[in-house]
Amino acid sequence: MVYENILIERRGEGPRQTGLITLNRPKQMNALNDALMDELGAALKAFDADAGIGCIVITGSEKAFAAGADISAMVNFNLEDSYGGDFITRNWETIRTIRKPVIAAVAGFALGGGCELAMMCDFIIAADTAKFGQPEIRLGIIPGAGGTQRLPRALGKAKAMDMILTSRMMDAAEAERGGLVSRVVPFADLMTVTLAAAESINELSAMSVMMAKESVNRAFEGTLADGVMFERRLFHSLFATADQKEGMNAFLSKRKATFKQR
Ligand code: CAA
Repeated sequence: MVYENILIERRGEGPRQTGLITLNRPKQMNALNDALMDELGAALKAFDADAGIGCIVITGSEKAFAAGADISAMVNFNLEDSYGGDFITRNWETIRTIRKPVIAAVAGFALGGGCELAMMCDFIIAADTAKFGQPEIRLGIIPGAGGTQRLPRALGKAKAMDMILTSRMMDAAEAERGGLVSRVVPFADLMTVTLAAAESINELSAMSVMMAKESVNRAFEGTLADGVMFERRLFHSLFATADQKEGMNAFLSKRKATFKQR
């Protein structure tokens, strides 16, 4: 696929590298249209299928991670276009099928669908310039890419309602206090810190990384009892891997583990 709305790079030196995806519609503040979401889905799938990639990072520009779904593309939508055309589901949900970790590196505005895209990633590292918001209510709509579900899970009901109903933006410090983002770093350090986090994951056993991601996601999708049982069975199955033997023996021998990915 030829990418016109995103940039694709590989970063890192080791046997497994980081797939870096940069949203790139600078004139539109990275507003997310169909073309961009199709490309993002294709790039995510390609990195997920690439054995030389351990972790994926999605980022935007200094000004905007993404300012939301492209308003000019949907201004004249009717029900046939939105419901009939399966708007959002048709190409925004690919990210949920990705088995490798996906980290969002957010600077500037992450609004509407931009905030929702960041929340679909496994965790968010924010620059101190980041601003999160769900301003859809001002457009006469509501968040449509999971915002009403993921924001309360991340921040609790009070802050999620406040953001969704008043459309106020949340700065990076408040987002970190509330648990929406995992770390806040100076803008100048955003990519160095995020790529170092990705690199540390690249060095691990891919199977345990994928199972950890799958198991944490279960916490949001079912009951506690189901989630704990799911985790227990994945945990048990990792004792069938050579990497578990290597990891534990390396610890007991006080040396660094060399994982063989099997
Ligand atoms: N869609 C389309 N174009 C957008 C856009 C969007 N979501 N956000 C910004 N742009 C465009 C602007 O129209 C403008 O284009 P022109 O130069 O051609 O006029 C350009 O990007 C720069 O934007 P501004 O001049 O507005 O820049 P600013 O610095 O004054 O403000 C901003 C930046 C606060 C991000 C402001 O652009 C803004 O509020 N954007 C809209 C945010 C929004 O409402 N997002 C929700 C969209 S709906 C949605 O996402 C639904 C869903 O849940 C999936």
